[in-house]
Amino acid sequence: MLEKLKKTQKERRFKHTLGVISEAERLAPLFGVDTEKARIAALLHDCAKNLDEKSGEEFNQICVKYGVKLDELAKSEHALVHAYLGAAVAWKDYGINDHEILEAIYYHTTARANMTPLEKLIYIADMTEPNRTLEQSKEIRRLVEIDINEALIYAIGCSIKHVIKKGTLIHPDSIHALNYLIEERRDCR
Ligand SMILES: [Fe+2]
Ligand SMILES: [Fe+2]
Repeated sequence: MLEKLKKTQKERRFKHTLGVISEAERLAPLFGVDTEKARIAALLHDCAKNLDEKSGEEFNQICVKYGVKLDELAKSEHALVHAYLGAAVAWKDYGINDHEILEAIYYHTTARANMTPLEKLIYIADMTEPNRTLEQSKEIRRLVEIDINEALIYAIGCSIKHVIKKGTLIHPDSIHALNYLIEERRDCR
């Protein structure tokens, strides 16, 4: 799978993928996730990143080919689509039929309410892999050692702030993810 993926990704993207794999392996025991599942989800999380660079009719045809229906928001925010396409590519081209892995790929950009441990792990590992050197990545790395959900609240908040700064649309799944975690924290206290 790694060799196949390498042919489709630019060097920088492939380096990021290798970073997410090593981070996913490191975090798997902390999240109570099977290391092999974490490794495969990490390996394939951006497997459709090359496809969302296409545009117009070519892009529409790719979505049709993989059976990905675009809602209004996804149509205007291409960045979201590589996650949806990624799950379909992992299934059709890489033969992955484990739902947990496919859903971790599907939700790695937006997150969602009531995430599985594997979904949480991939969301975090994508932001804390060794090539990410931003201050916010350091803070997520610090928080994840203390409390996984606090790390997620911070990480999703950072993503939403980034979207606001860019002036693009916020996916409702991200809001639901954040609200769910905040309510869960309130109920625990
Ligand atoms: Fe991604
Ligand atoms: Fe990524």
